[in-house]
Amino acid sequence: MMKGVYDCEVIAHSEASPGVTRTLLRGCEIAREAKPGQFVNAQVSATTTDPLLRRPFSVHATYPDEGVFSLLYALVGRGTALMDKIAPGEKISVVGPLGRGFDLGDNPNARHILVAGGCGAAPLHFLCDALCAKWDCANIMVITGARTKNSVLCGAEFKSHGVEVEISTDDGSFGHHGLVTEVLQSHLSSSQSPLRVYSCGPHAMMREVARIALEAGVSSCQVSLENNMACGIGVCMGCVQKIKGPMPGDKSGNNWHRERVCKDGPVFNAEDIIWD
Ligand SMILES: Cc1cc2nc3c(=O)[nH]c(=O)nc-3n(C[C@H](O)[C@H](O)[C@H](O)COP(=O)(O)OP(=O)(O)OC[C@H]3O[C@@H](n4cnc5c(N)ncnc54)[C@H](O)[C@@H]3O)c2cc1C
Ligand code: FES
Repeated sequence: MMKGVYDCEVIAHSEASPGVTRTLLRGCEIAREAKPGQFVNAQVSATTTDPLLRRPFSVHATYPDEGVFSLLYALVGRGTALMDKIAPGEKISVVGPLGRGFDLGDNPNARHILVAGGCGAAPLHFLCDALCAKWDCANIMVITGARTKNSVLCGAEFKSHGVEVEISTDDGSFGHHGLVTEVLQSHLSSSQSPLRVYSCGPHAMMREVARIALEAGVSSCQVSLENNMACGIGVCMGCVQKIKGPMPGDKSGNNWHRERVCKDGPVFNAEDIIWD
């Protein structure tokens, strides 16, 4: 995989929902090479010292023929606010594509269920594209959840793929009134096909997705973790996640070890994770 540091031109920003921005960037190598679930580490201002650390964002969509890719991110702090203000035409330094993405499976009869919470829709949108290109869209379902109707992300884009889409909102203003995990539960119990579940969103939501999916005996459940990161390239150990089982070659008797979300993930098999 061609990972590199690229100067990417900001083409445009648009508001995807209140407090969430979609940014289009020109970066041929990333647009060509990125796989669903991989991320980039972006310098969110023209200076390299303020802020000091790059910010990680999942690749949301790629347009390889145009050499363009997009990010979809919530404005939660200073870094994302700076990113949102970079003028179109300016260039920022972007490292990527980074990490290990989703495994799309090899069973043509499998049913794929994507479960997104909030900005977790970002990598799942890219995944949905790739699954539709590889498998029959009729076998793909997206369950996406948000606080309220106005904050639902990518609903129309998911529908434009022709996949089945279910939406849940915390306040009941649109779709199912309640949690994405309740919607997931109802579909797990009724499906006859081998099921593959993919999820990204708040940590507690993914933990519940994993619990429900594994209890239902799905053939695969993958989650994309968003642990806080520093270097993003596997050097600082700032992003580690506890994983079941001894480290390969470790004879000390430990039945767990740590893996780096930036390098060994961010996508993990849910059954391997020790959830906290
Ligand atoms: C692999 C990866 C992919 C990501 N993809 C996306 C994406 O596609 N869209 C998106 O909106 N966000 C994504 N994130 C989270 C994103 O990186 C953070 O929201 C961002 O770095 C915050 O920067 P900031 O300077 O604006 O906020 P800060 O000032 O750094 O923090 C503001 C608040 O956000 C919280 N925060 C910071 N980093 C994270 C994080 N990694 N996870 C959860 N909360 C955090 C802080 O605890 C704090 O409460 C991803 C994170 C990782 C590790
Ligand atoms: S962020 Fe440095 S090792 Fe993952």
